[in-house]
Amino acid sequence: MEITGRVALVTGGATRVGRALSLALASAGADVFVHYNSSAGPAEETVAAIQALGRRAADGAANLSDPATTAGLVAAATEALGPVSILVNSASGFPEDTLADVTLDGWRRTLDLTLASPIFTTQAFAAALPEDTDGAVVNITDVKTHTPYRKHFSYVIAKGGIDTFTRAAAVALGPRIRVNAVALGVILPPPGEDDDYVDRLAADLPLGRVGGTDPVAAAVVALVQNDFVTGEIIRIDGGGHLV
Ligand SMILES: NC(=O)c1ccc[n+]([C@@H]2O[C@H](COP(=O)([O-])OP(=O)(O)OC[C@H]3O[C@@H](n4cnc5c(N)ncnc54)[C@H](OP(=O)(O)O)[C@@H]3O)[C@@H](O)[C@H]2O)c1
Repeated sequence: MEITGRVALVTGGATRVGRALSLALASAGADVFVHYNSSAGPAEETVAAIQALGRRAADGAANLSDPATTAGLVAAATEALGPVSILVNSASGFPEDTLADVTLDGWRRTLDLTLASPIFTTQAFAAALPEDTDGAVVNITDVKTHTPYRKHFSYVIAKGGIDTFTRAAAVALGPRIRVNAVALGVILPPPGEDDDYVDRLAADLPLGRVGGTDPVAAAVVALVQNDFVTGEIIRIDGGGHLV
């Protein structure tokens, strides 16, 4: 897929990893709709940075804790920039819970935001894609679906659902829409943690360092561009899955 002139929707596209993906798609030639929930200021700043690259951009808020908001989000992006043919599902929660203390309400909140909303955003995206247009979806998942965290029980199960969803959607939506994912390892410190926290985690990796957002952005752009890859999940983890 040639990205130039396409419209991309990036959920959670205003901050951190999502912001890097918004800017990378714009650098590759896309016009970008930057979704946000609470980060209105960073969304405006990201829109301005995309426009400075010579691309069109707009932003819009949706609280994806309610998956029913997803159809409106795709409609808002289409109204602002035209038909959306690239979707990046990056918005996510990262709550702390364990099998011992997870509550039914907490479980439902995590599954709604981190699994159901990407599914229903993809459904709305596919329904809105013009018949003569191909599309690409990239989901953002986590390498810890294979070696689970102890303290993020509902999150890691939701992301495991994203892995399966990536494969199921690739089968369901081909040949016109490809669906892939990137599984992240130690990329940025979680909100509230400092560099020392991730430096300690990175010390044990085969590549021995924190990834940062550039390798994530490069993989997402490559997955969007490559027309013969679907249902693939690329680990961006410095080899962390090997140790
Ligand atoms: N950082 C890492 O090292 C790492 C590692 C593994 C996987 N990942 C995955 O990579 C993706 C991005 O990670 P990140 O660290 O940049 O995320 P983050 O800092 O935790 O940010 C979460 C993003 O999700 C959005 N979001 C949160 N609650 C929302 C809600 N109720 N409705 C709509 N949007 C909501 C936020 O939007 P607002 O700011 O506008 O509220 C924000 O853009 C996530 O899918 C994450 O699971 C990251």
